[in-house]
Amino acid sequence: MLARVPLDPGQLASKVCFTVASPLVRTVYRSRSTLHPGNIEELDRIFRTAVFNNRRRRLTGCLAHPDGHFVQVIEGEVEHVDALMDSLNADKRHTDITVLGRWPTSSRIFSNWAMARPNIRPLAEQSLRLINDVGSGAQITGILLGLVEEGTSLYPLI
Ligand SMILES: Cc1cc2nc3c(=O)[nH]c(=O)nc-3n(C[C@H](O)[C@H](O)[C@H](O)COP(=O)(O)O)c2cc1C
Repeated sequence: MLARVPLDPGQLASKVCFTVASPLVRTVYRSRSTLHPGNIEELDRIFRTAVFNNRRRRLTGCLAHPDGHFVQVIEGEVEHVDALMDSLNADKRHTDITVLGRWPTSSRIFSNWAMARPNIRPLAEQSLRLINDVGSGAQITGILLGLVEEGTSLYPLI
């Protein structure tokens, strides 16, 4: 004869609960920095906040700050990316945000980086122009990915 063993609430929860991951998106923007060019402390503060917050929200990406601009690639679950874009739009440390692309994606390309910080100094003039001025979201993402893969970045996502 089979005994009827009631499930405890924990067991029950593990049987009926499952998580449906939200869709992933990748977005790229360019903005104009309002920081004084030598304000390294503020840049460091931005990266510390970004890495701390992004780890908790499973956001990944890359942020470069060439020549009076910021360019950032952000990837993650759609509601986290959109919430961050709202914060970024309200952040007075930059202005004139131009979104260059926003795509659904099935995988991350900066998956090891809570916010990679590439060194843009080695870039050729032409690449810098793409980043600062005329490049599309896809071109900028490609250039930043190349730099990160060369290993010139900090802040690995552990
Ligand atoms: C160029 C730039 C990039 C930023 N990138 C991020 C980021 O990737 N993640 C993040 O949480 N905050 C980022 N921030 C900071 C946000 O605008 C905002 O200040 C911060 O998310 C608020 O965090 P808090 O609620 O923990 O104070 C960035 C700010 C700037 C100016």
